[in-house]
Amino acid sequence: VPAPAALPAPTLCCRNNSKSSPLQCILTGRWTNDLGSNMTIGALNEKGEFMGSYHTAVSATTNEIQLSPLQGSQHNTNKKSQPTFGFTVNWTFSDSITVFTGQCFVDEEGKEILKTMWLLRSRVDNLKDDWKATMVGINVFTRLHSKK
Ligand code: BTN
Repeated sequence: VPAPAALPAPTLCCRNNSKSSPLQCILTGRWTNDLGSNMTIGALNEKGEFMGSYHTAVSATTNEIQLSPLQGSQHNTNKKSQPTFGFTVNWTFSDSITVFTGQCFVDEEGKEILKTMWLLRSRVDNLKDDWKATMVGINVFTRLHSKK
């Protein structure tokens, strides 16, 4: 009996596990992070810009948390499959602004994951307090209600 011809080993590829197209990570949709915050990212325009909304689970203030708008952009739309991106959240319930920067990855199970770092700038009353006005951290986002 002739030996079967060698077949290429299957490699992890895409969300739908097909073998030919590159790892695809798409920002548009609903996401949740390790703090329990949720965000929705809208459709990207032709320049890779997007808008959305952010509902934080936590706040540095005692103000009542409200849904807040976000604006951002993704690098190299349609050129690279695991794109870098950044967005700004202008909090409607505080005087603060947060900027996030990160990259959209596909993990070993084919799940999309956003690895981000953020800077949260709070408003302080005077220059002397500037030193305590900025916090830094990381957040990891996974897709909410992902379709299989
Ligand atoms: C504020 O406290 O003034 C506004 C809310 C800030 C929430 C921060 S932004 C970084 C971190 N990630 C979250 O999902 N929430 C907190």
